[in-house]
Amino acid sequence: MFGGWLYRKQRRRLGLGAIAIAGAWIAWNEAEVPSAFRGVRAPQPGPLAREAGLKLFEHEWTVADTLSKGDGLGPVFNDRSCVACHSQGGIGGGGGIEHNVTTFEAHPVPGRPEVQGGIIHAFSVSSDCQESRHSLNDFFQVVPGGVTIVGTCFVQKHDFDPVRSDSINSTALFGAGWVDQITDRAITHNARLRAMASLGQVIGGNLESVPAGRARILPDGRIGKFGWKAQFATLKEFVAAACANEIGLGNPLMEQARPYAHHATQKVERDLDELQFRSLVAYVGTLARPIEVMPSDSSDRIEAERGRVLFEKVGCTVCHVSSLGGVDGVYSDFLLHRLTSSEDLGGYREVPQVELPTDHPLADEWKTPALWGVADSAPYFHDGKSPTLRAAIDRHQGDASAVTRGFVSLSERDQNAVIAFLSTLKAPRQEKPAPRKHNAPADYFAMTR
Ligand code: HEC
Ligand code: HEC
Repeated sequence: MFGGWLYRKQRRRLGLGAIAIAGAWIAWNEAEVPSAFRGVRAPQPGPLAREAGLKLFEHEWTVADTLSKGDGLGPVFNDRSCVACHSQGGIGGGGGIEHNVTTFEAHPVPGRPEVQGGIIHAFSVSSDCQESRHSLNDFFQVVPGGVTIVGTCFVQKHDFDPVRSDSINSTALFGAGWVDQITDRAITHNARLRAMASLGQVIGGNLESVPAGRARILPDGRIGKFGWKAQFATLKEFVAAACANEIGLGNPLMEQARPYAHHATQKVERDLDELQFRSLVAYVGTLARPIEVMPSDSSDRIEAERGRVLFEKVGCTVCHVSSLGGVDGVYSDFLLHRLTSSEDLGGYREVPQVELPTDHPLADEWKTPALWGVADSAPYFHDGKSPTLRAAIDRHQGDASAVTRGFVSLSERDQNAVIAFLSTLKAPRQEKPAPRKHNAPADYFAMTR
C-alpha cells in the first residue's frame, strides 16, 4: 500500500516536472505572445456603412433584384435574407432548427484524393437547378465493395458512399467582430498550454484528463475560427461565403453558388459591388457583443455566481475558455474536439476508402462554440438537436466525458446553478427587434430530399 502511495507520489512529481519543463519551454517560446493579446478594441462602427449594411442584411432578395448588379437571388439558395436565419434575440442572432442548412462532404476515393464539399441548397429559381442529397451520387459515385480474399476466406466488402451530409444550425453573429480580432497565435498558444497540461496530467497518472483539441489549420496555413468546423479564418470570408451560398449573391470575394448539376461557365455580373459588400461586412462586424445579465433577485444572483465558479471547477472552462486573445467572456478555445459517443457516430463508422488529409476535421470533430449569448441561441450543438442547455451539457461525451461525469456528480442544486450561470449569458440589447416573419420562399423550387 505504502509502495503504491510512493509510486503515485513519484508519478505526480514526474507530472509536475513535465508541466514545469513545458511551462518554461512555452514561456521562452512565446515570450512575445502578450503583444498579440493587446489591441483588441470594440470594432468601430462607421455609421453610414453600418446603416447600408443593416439594409442589406434585412433585405428580402428576389430574382433580378433592384439592389443587385447581377441576377439577384439564386440560382440556388437557402433563404431570401440574412435575417431570416439570423434573428433570435435580435437581428444577427441564431436561428431555429427550421433554418438549418444541409452541408455535404465527398470523402476521398481512389482516383479522387481530395475532399470536396459544399451545401445542398434547399431552393432554386428553376426546376432544373434543384439539388438533392440523392442526386449528389451522380457526381460522387458509390464505390462498389466487391469481394476480397483474406487468407482462405472470401470477404464481402461494403459499398462505400463517399458523400456525408450534416444538418447545421445557424450561429448567432453577436460579437463576431471581436472574434475576428483573436489572433492565430492566441489560439495556438492556448492549445499548446492545454496540450502540455493534459500531458502532465496523463504522466501524473490521471488518465481522465481532457484531450487538448486541435486548431483547424487551413490549406494556406492560417487558423480557422468561424463556422462549426472552423472552416474560415476571417469574418469577411465567411460573409462572402454566406452571400454566395445562402442567398446566391456573387460578391468581390466569391462567385455565387452554382447548382452542381450545371457546368455552364457563363459569366454573370456580381450581385454585390465592393461598397455593398464592405457595408455588409461592417454591419456584421460591428454587431454588439453579448452581455452578462445578472438576475435582479439577490438569491438568484448568488446562485448564478456560484454556477460560474462551479462551471470552472468541474472543467467546462478547459474548452470554453472564458477569455481568449484579449476577448473577455467569449468562453471558447476555438479548437476542434470530438464529443461524440460511439452510438452517435452512425454511418461514420464505415472504413473510408482513402484516409482524410490530416488537417481535415473528422466527421465528428466540431469547434467549441463561444458560449456568450448562449441563453438566447437555443437550440444547441452543430445540428441544433439539443433543445435546452441541460440537454446540450448531457450530450458532451468523448473528449468531455470526464467533465460531464464531474457535472453529473454535482448535487441537483449545483447543476442548476451552472445552468443559472449560463442563463445570464444573453444577446446584446437592441433598439429594434428582429422581424418575426419567416420568409420561407414557398414560391420557389424546394429541394427534394
Ligand atoms: C438559410 C439560413 C441562413 C442564411 C439565409 C444566412 N445564414 Fe449565416 N449561417 C447559417 C448557418 C447554418 C451558419 C453556421 C454555418 C457553419 O458554421 O458551417 C451560419 C453562420 C454564419 C456566420 C459564421 C458565424 C460564426 O461565428 O461562425 C456568419 C458570419 C454568417 N452566417 C453571416 C451571414 C450573412 C451575412 C448572411 C446573409 C448574406 C447569412 N449569414 C445568411 C445560416 C444562414
Ligand atoms: C472537451 C471540450 C469541452 C468541454 C470540457 C465542455 N465543452 Fe461544451 N462544447 C464543446 C464543443 C466542441 C461543443 C459543440 C459540439 C457540437 O456542436 O457537436 C460544445 C457545446 C456546448 C454547448 C452548446 C452551445 C451552442 O451554442 O450550441 C453548451 C451550452 C456547452 N457546451 C456547455 C458546456 C458546459 C456547461 C460544460 C461543463 C459541464 C462544457 N460545455 C464542457 C466542448 C466542450
